[in-house]
Amino acid sequence: MQSESRVVALVATGGTIAGTAARGDDLVGYDAGALSAEQLTAAVPALAAEALETWTLARLDSCDMDHATWALLRRELQSLLARPEVAGVVVTHGTDTLEETAWFLHRTLAAPKPVVLTAAMRPASAPSPDGPQNLLDAVRLAREPGARGVLVAFGGKVWAGGELRKLHGWQLDAFSAGDAGALALVEDGVFRRMRDWPAPERHPAPVGEVPPGEWPRVEIVTSHAGASGRIVDALVADGVDGLVIAGTGNGTVHTALREAAARALAAGVAVVRASRCLAGGVVGTTDGALPHYGAATPAQARIELMLDLLARRD
Ligand code: SIN
Repeated sequence: MQSESRVVALVATGGTIAGTAARGDDLVGYDAGALSAEQLTAAVPALAAEALETWTLARLDSCDMDHATWALLRRELQSLLARPEVAGVVVTHGTDTLEETAWFLHRTLAAPKPVVLTAAMRPASAPSPDGPQNLLDAVRLAREPGARGVLVAFGGKVWAGGELRKLHGWQLDAFSAGDAGALALVEDGVFRRMRDWPAPERHPAPVGEVPPGEWPRVEIVTSHAGASGRIVDALVADGVDGLVIAGTGNGTVHTALREAAARALAAGVAVVRASRCLAGGVVGTTDGALPHYGAATPAQARIELMLDLLARRD
């Protein structure tokens, strides 16, 4: 009989980890999210002895992740975490927007137990898929004594959900945490921690009360050579609530975009900046510069601004 708090709940949302291709050697032309949560666990013999509950919440290619699915996932995770017999929860997900879902959950979910996201770069039908090992590591992490917070088990490492970023489009070693580095290494099923588990950093926005379709609309605009402010003006005219400017370097913004950002601010649109660099984010402030969220990537900053706007709306 399983002892208390040994059940791991697995929620599948799709992604390459659940993807299958018509041809076994096809590593890019596959249907993401083809397999159910039960099929994913059945492919990992080492999970047969585990007390697992499985639920297929979605079968998305994560490039199509949306706010409604986030809200549903968050609600489901809240009720799973509240059950005393559940040691932790695993969420299988696509890699493409993993950093966004991880950020959203990190900022909106109380996670005194581990919520472990995992994914894969190769589909389940590949000759040597990476998903089964990632899934096994994730399940073990979900019942690791003392672990807590939103975590990501991927490629033999554990990442903090609030620090993740995708670096590569197709190689196996696709993730990083920028300057923060991995939280732990997986050494033959044992977690060697480099730092403490993530501390809770919940945003006060009333996320659970947002009616479907009423999330603030926040768009990302990139600063680049030859940028004009026209896209910003068009978004403001279209009723956008907030803008993230993915700036160059340490969040610098082309003069034409800065001028357009000033017009947007005058029209009541919230504007922040981030860096389009893969690491480092934005540090420091200068007079008159747009605000920023430090190390957050543009995609993470978009969620953060959405949460700020929700809190202000409240
Ligand atoms: C996806 O993000 O759903 C597809 C790509 C992947 O999981 O690697």
